[in-house]
Amino acid sequence: MKLVFKTPAKINLGLHILGKRPDGYHELETLFQMVSLYDQIELELLPQGIEIECNMPGIPLDDSNLAVKAAKLVQETWPKQARGVRIRLSKKIPAGAGLAGGSGNAAGVLMGLNALWDLGTSRKGLIPLANQLGSDVPFFLTAPCALGRGRGEVLEAIQNTKKYTVILVYPGFPIATSWVYQNLNLELTKKPKNISILQQFLSQSKIGLLGEKLYNDLEPVVIKRYPEIQVIKARLMAQGADGVLLSGSGSTVFALFEDSARASAIDTDIDRGDGKQFLTETITSFSEFLPGEILDRL
Ligand code: C5P
Repeated sequence: MKLVFKTPAKINLGLHILGKRPDGYHELETLFQMVSLYDQIELELLPQGIEIECNMPGIPLDDSNLAVKAAKLVQETWPKQARGVRIRLSKKIPAGAGLAGGSGNAAGVLMGLNALWDLGTSRKGLIPLANQLGSDVPFFLTAPCALGRGRGEVLEAIQNTKKYTVILVYPGFPIATSWVYQNLNLELTKKPKNISILQQFLSQSKIGLLGEKLYNDLEPVVIKRYPEIQVIKARLMAQGADGVLLSGSGSTVFALFEDSARASAIDTDIDRGDGKQFLTETITSFSEFLPGEILDRL
């Protein structure tokens, strides 16, 4: 038996750091949005064990891979029902890019194994495992658009039914999230931010106004070290984007467009070397990337 499905990337339309926590993580408030840049996952039933294959060079194929960690955690949590699995990852989402591709893969493995191994659990039953795997993983089980608080795992689904176009520009190099958080100047992030304004413009589908209000407290740290990110932002703005921002801890810059025709004409001249530009749209339903055989069992 085999399951084949996709897992999406995410962007952060707003990201505010409120302070450092006793556990070393940072307390944050963020607006997550899934976008239609996908990895593909194939889960093949095996009698036992966990095997992994991946098309993208540089992705670890040992126990440090988040998809493998997710499968192990499921085996440990449901030892009687769990069996084995071969995970085939066909990745398009760059790693270390602020797009949470690996977190999306891990959430996909949790939801897929629920069906493949007939665990009979729900989204709610998978959430504690997602929390253990990483701060961005629970979002991918929750809703296509959600407000995240705490480490990012305290989530509230946001209704937004209208799609809009998003261009992602990966500059060709990864950035380690832990480095960005270590170099944050918490004094500079203290200025209060108004996430409800973002929510309001989203629900009214006023993408132009939303674009003017985007913010990311991690962006100044990243641009100081990688000024080329600012050059990419400027190019996107000059070509008519409604809003441009670094996604999460980077390295990807995203641009919002109310007018999809304008987005199709964008050329950031990045597709040389390892840089890449992706034309995507926002996701409004899980059914856009998960088949019924997985969704119906959650
Ligand atoms: O949770 P995750 O493993 O994805 O986090 C990666 C790193 O990002 C953590 O080790 C931590 O340094 C930083 N982080 C943080 N506060 C958060 C989320 C991540 O400090 N809310």
